[in-house]
Amino acid sequence: MSILVCGGAGYIGSHTVKELIGNYEVVVLDNLSTGYPFLLEEGVTFVKGDLGDASVLDLVFTEHKIDAVFHFAANSLVGESVENPLMYYDNNVSSTVTLLKKMVEHGVGKFIFSSTAATYGIPDTDLITEETVTNPINPYGRSKLMVEQVLADVAHVHDFQYIVLRYFNAAGAHDSGQIGESHNPETHLIPIVLQHLLGKRDKISVFGTDYNTADGTCVRDYIHVTDLAIAHVLAYEGLVSGEVFNEVFNLGNGSGYSVKEIIEVCEKVSGRSATVEYVDRRHGDPAVLVASSGKINKSLGWKPRFQLEEIIKSAWRWHSK
Ligand code: UFG
Repeated sequence: MSILVCGGAGYIGSHTVKELIGNYEVVVLDNLSTGYPFLLEEGVTFVKGDLGDASVLDLVFTEHKIDAVFHFAANSLVGESVENPLMYYDNNVSSTVTLLKKMVEHGVGKFIFSSTAATYGIPDTDLITEETVTNPINPYGRSKLMVEQVLADVAHVHDFQYIVLRYFNAAGAHDSGQIGESHNPETHLIPIVLQHLLGKRDKISVFGTDYNTADGTCVRDYIHVTDLAIAHVLAYEGLVSGEVFNEVFNLGNGSGYSVKEIIEVCEKVSGRSATVEYVDRRHGDPAVLVASSGKINKSLGWKPRFQLEEIIKSAWRWHSK
C-alpha cells in the first residue's frame, strides 16, 4: 500500500514525506511549479505532473496501489489570489475536483486535505475553534473552503473519508537541516526577517502599527512545519483505524506573537540587529489569528512540540546554510 502525496516537493509536503518514509511507500506527484527537486526525499517514487491532468492520475492510480492521498499541491499566496482569482479557482478547486473524481473512479477513499486559517477571514474572536464561523475574504481562502465543502458532499455518497487540516502560520525547518522553507518570491514574515539578518535584504517592512493589539502590529500563531507533518500522519492513522473521519481540525500552537515580537526573537536567535521600517497595513490582514487546537488534541492526541524560539532557531539554521 502506498500513500500519494500531491505537492510532496513543496515546503509542508516535503516535511510530511520525511515523517512517512520508512513506514510507508510514498509516491510524490508534483509539477514543480513552486516545489523543488532538492526537497524530494530519497526513496520516494516521483511523478512529475499536474494534478489537474486526468491521464497522469490514471497512470499513478493504475501503476501504484494507492491507499490514501495527502493533498498539499496548491497556490497559497493571498495577494496573488486577489490579483489572479481564476488561477486559484483553477489550480486549487478544479484540479482538486479532477483528483477527487479519479480517486472515486479508482476506489481510493482516504484523503487528507491542506486547508488554512484563511477560511476564517476576519474572525470576531481571538481564539479560533473549528466552530468559529468561516467567512474567507480572499480567493485563496474561498478556494480552500470550497474544497472543504466538496469533500463533505463526496463523503456523503461515496466510500470516501477525509480529514481537513487548517494550518495557521507554518514556519521552521527540519531538524536534519536537509529541508526547509523556500518560496520565490518570499512573502512570509519569518523567512523575510532572517534573510534580512543574513544581509540578503536591506530592511524589513512592518505592515501596520495601528492594529488593536498590545503593540499595534498583527498577531499570528506560528506552528513548526514538523508539527504540521506529524499531524498528517496521525490523521492518516485515524482514518485507517476508522475512528476519526470527515472532520476539520485547526493546527496551531495556541499562542499569538506580534510582528514586533517575531523580529525580536529573530534578532535574539541570530545575535544580529534588524533595520525596520514601519509602513501601511497590508490589505486583507486580520489583526489576530490564533488557533485553538484542542479538538485535534482530543481526537488524535496531537500536541505541538516546538515553541516559537525553537521554530525560529530551526529556520535560522536552514536559512544560514
Ligand atoms: N508581515 C510584515 N512584513 C513582511 C511580511 C509579513 O509585517 O514583510 C506581517 C503580515 O502583515 C502579517 C504577519 O507578518 O501580519 C504574518 O505574515 P505572513 O505573510 O508571514 O503570514 P500570513 O499570516 O499573512 O499568512 C498565513 C499563511 C497563508 C494564509 C494566511 C491566513 O501563510 O497561507 O495566514 O490569514 F492564507
